[in-house]
Amino acid sequence: LQHLLTTEGLPASILLHILDTAESFVGVTERDIKKVPLLRGKSIFNLFFEPSTRTRTTFEIAAKRLSADVVNLNIAASSQTKGETLLDTVDNLSAMHADMFVVRHSQSGAAHLIARHVRPEIHVINAGDGRHAHPTQGLLDMFTIRHYKNDFHNLRVAIVGDILHSRVARSQIHALTTLGVPEVRVIAPKTLLPARVERLGVHVYHEMTQGLKDVDVLLMLRLQNERMLSARLPSTEEYFKYYGLTQEKLALAKRDAIVLHPGPMNRGVEIDSAVADGGQSVILPQVTFGIAVRMAVMSILAGN
Ligand code: CP
Repeated sequence: LQHLLTTEGLPASILLHILDTAESFVGVTERDIKKVPLLRGKSIFNLFFEPSTRTRTTFEIAAKRLSADVVNLNIAASSQTKGETLLDTVDNLSAMHADMFVVRHSQSGAAHLIARHVRPEIHVINAGDGRHAHPTQGLLDMFTIRHYKNDFHNLRVAIVGDILHSRVARSQIHALTTLGVPEVRVIAPKTLLPARVERLGVHVYHEMTQGLKDVDVLLMLRLQNERMLSARLPSTEEYFKYYGLTQEKLALAKRDAIVLHPGPMNRGVEIDSAVADGGQSVILPQVTFGIAVRMAVMSILAGN
C-alpha cells in the first residue's frame, strides 16, 4: 500500500491487516497504547486545510507513539494566504524531507492530487476530502465494531443521517460491505441521500421506526451544514423530531446495540445527550481506537 486515499476497492485482506495491526498496538487496556520505534527518523506533515479536533490530534499522537517527528502546518499562518498553490506548498515541504503527508481538504480529490504529484517514496493519507472519503474514520469505526461485536458476519448495521454530504458514510459503506456485513441500512430523508445509493449495496429506509428495528450497530452522522446550500438546510427541530436518536428510538434496535458517532456531535440535532452519554454509546472509545488505527496505517504505509 503506497497511499491511503479511500476504503473503496481495498480488499478485505488489507482492511483486516490494518485492524489486526492496530490491535497489536493496543496494550492491556484500550487506553494503554504502546510506544514503538517503527517510524524513528521519519517526518510526518499534518496538512489540515479544514478544521479538526479528533483526526488531527490522534494522527499527531499516533505519529509520536511511532517515534516519528511530526510537523503540524498552521495553514491560516502559512503562505497559502499569499496565494501559494497546494502543490507548491507540498513541493516545498517535500524539500524539507517529508516522508508522509496527512491531508484534510474541503475539495474532494485533494489528497489524490497530492498523491499523484509527490515522489514515489512519499506517502499520502487522506484525512477527509470534501464529501468523498475519510478512510481512517471508516477504519476506526470498523475497529470499534469488531471490538464490541467480535465479527462482521452476523450484523445488521444502520447509518443514520446526512449520507449525501458525508465522506464518513462513504468510507463506512465500502468497508462494511467489503468486510462481509450482511445487511447495511441507510436511514435518511430523500433530500439527504445520494442518487442511486442502493448501488453501493445498502438498503434504504426513510423512517427511523422501520430502519432501526433489530439493528446491532448504529452509525450516527452529523448534518454537514457547511456543505449545504443555505436554502436546503433542514430545520434542526424538525430534523431532531424525525431523525434525532433518542432513547425511545434506540429501544427499537437490539438491546445490546452500540451507538457510534464520528464527531463533532450536534447534541439535540442528530443525537440526544441521554444517548450520546448513555450506556450504549461507544463514541469516546472510538476516539481512543483512532490512535491505534492511525498508527497501523502509518506503519504499514512506511513498510513495516
Ligand atoms: N471525525 C472527525 O473527522 O472529527 P474531526 O473533524 O474533529 O477530525
